[in-house]
Amino acid sequence: MTKEKKQALLAQLYAPYKKCIECPLGTLGRINVVFGEGNPDARLMIIGEAPGRDEDLKGRPFIGRSGKLLTTVLELADIRREDVFITNVVKCRPPDNRNPLPIEAKTCKELLLFKQIEIIQPDVICTLGAVALEGLLGHPAKISQMRGLPTKFKNTLLIPTFHPAYILRNPSKLSILYEDIKKAHSHLR
Ligand code: URA
Repeated sequence: MTKEKKQALLAQLYAPYKKCIECPLGTLGRINVVFGEGNPDARLMIIGEAPGRDEDLKGRPFIGRSGKLLTTVLELADIRREDVFITNVVKCRPPDNRNPLPIEAKTCKELLLFKQIEIIQPDVICTLGAVALEGLLGHPAKISQMRGLPTKFKNTLLIPTFHPAYILRNPSKLSILYEDIKKAHSHLR
């Protein structure tokens, strides 16, 4: 499928959900449904948990403190942010940045995330943090044990790593995030 076709399909997917109220988050004060951004034909897809305050205000994923760290790590790994596709399991900010409820994650991933993956068809998915990993696997998972270890989401290679917010709290783990992202990049076909 061409990049233009993927772009059109993504726009078509997003259109009916710009004011989504399919799960509780739609009525709890969120401003924007943060669909995700980047190359519609990306070989690497990066998936976080849910938008925070900055992302909700601007309608773009990973643009706050965690996002700045993610962008820096991508650059260090020789990856241009605009070459990847960045999104979240849940597209609306949970109140007070609480973890998404299971029903919110389930609704959102079935309506949007899984379809985004089907359209983009990345070579590799990199999940950031436990919530994103569990969202893709569909069951509880220990990020400290699984990070850096290639696994699968359906037929796509999945490399889990830590969430940048965790690295901000534990800066000594920065090199792990970098290595995992490098590893994800090394698997691109
Ligand atoms: N944290 C996330 O998981 N996603 C964002 O978009 C921003 C912060």
